[in-house]
Amino acid sequence: MASTTLTLPLPFAQRHHRVSQRQVFFFTKFRNRVSTSSSASKRSCSLKRAYARARNALNEQVVEAQSSDSRKDTQRNPSSSKLVLVVGGSGGVGQLVVASLLQRNVKSRLILRDPEKATELFGEQDKEKLQVFKGDTRKQEDMDPSIFEGVTHVICCTGTTAFPSRRWDDDNTPERVDWVGVKNLVSALPSSVKRVVLVSSIGVTKINELPWSIMNLFGVLKYKKMGEDFLRSSGLPFTIIRAGRLTDGPYTSYDLNTLIKATAGQRRAVLVGQGDKLVGEASRIVVAEACVQALDLEVTENQVYEVNSVEGEGPGNEAEKWQELFKAAHSR
Ligand SMILES: NC(=O)c1ccc[n+]([C@@H]2O[C@H](COP(=O)([O-])OP(=O)(O)OC[C@H]3O[C@@H](n4cnc5c(N)ncnc54)[C@H](OP(=O)(O)O)[C@@H]3O)[C@@H](O)[C@H]2O)c1
Repeated sequence: MASTTLTLPLPFAQRHHRVSQRQVFFFTKFRNRVSTSSSASKRSCSLKRAYARARNALNEQVVEAQSSDSRKDTQRNPSSSKLVLVVGGSGGVGQLVVASLLQRNVKSRLILRDPEKATELFGEQDKEKLQVFKGDTRKQEDMDPSIFEGVTHVICCTGTTAFPSRRWDDDNTPERVDWVGVKNLVSALPSSVKRVVLVSSIGVTKINELPWSIMNLFGVLKYKKMGEDFLRSSGLPFTIIRAGRLTDGPYTSYDLNTLIKATAGQRRAVLVGQGDKLVGEASRIVVAEACVQALDLEVTENQVYEVNSVEGEGPGNEAEKWQELFKAAHSR
């Protein structure tokens, strides 16, 4: 366990102030667990040392990455004129999207069923930088035009579970979220919006094939495809990101297991395809970055991509590398 922690790569999430604080929180929990499970004191000591070394490495990396990212972002966004509406910003991918926009100094607006979650997740933010509206995408009446005033770009990463769970309470089912919710949102968007990025799923065109037919037992893939199709025929400039099975995060369960899952491994390289051919996993970190990159890359306009994470070095947040990845997918 110690060696896994020591070989931590710097995840995208740690480059964001809020998330990096949480990573430190994970580490604090880890340290506490280590110190309380002291039946084998020798092991505990070596774990404590591992913790200390990992924490120091993490802190150094966070400081270094934050300052170099900030420099790049200031160059890239001297005064960003974008106002990005994020729908589903309290979810696994959504949190990373919002953190990334905040860190890049891009103004964001959130639609949340519970607006208080914004403060819990992102802390107190300047209203100029982050605005929060209460809304449930299933309710057409919640999609008030005032929410969309001034919005230039949209990232929608709403979702619910594929199989019945507590998250279906109050009829928050795939049909209502992935179909009705997406339809309500897209219908309410002004035609001036420059890009709508929708997070969907691999397998949406293969619902009669295994294993997708099982995944689709309660219709999640069917309804996601219906949401996609509605966006595609809306006339709004769109990019659809079909994610593989999501890994990494969500960063809302603070336990050791989550820490390990969120930071171990080297699957930071990105496979981008087209045509619903990829079968695999996608890190939420990578999916969030793909969404943010797609906002500005002309090459991604009106395109549908599938995204997987594989072992290797990733593109990080370099626009040129993402552009190459997206472009290469067109010619395969
Ligand atoms: N899990 C996978 O393996 C997998 C694979 C491929 C694609 N995907 C898709 O990838 C996307 C991101 O997944 P994730 O796991 O990161 O998401 P998640 O953690 O499940 O978050 C879902 C988000 O949608 C919001 N939401 C749900 N119902 C809503 C409603 N009626 N109105 C407004 N907001 C609503 C949630 O808000 P609350 O905080 O209010 O609940 C939350 O912010 C989803 O579309 C998911 O279906 C997932």
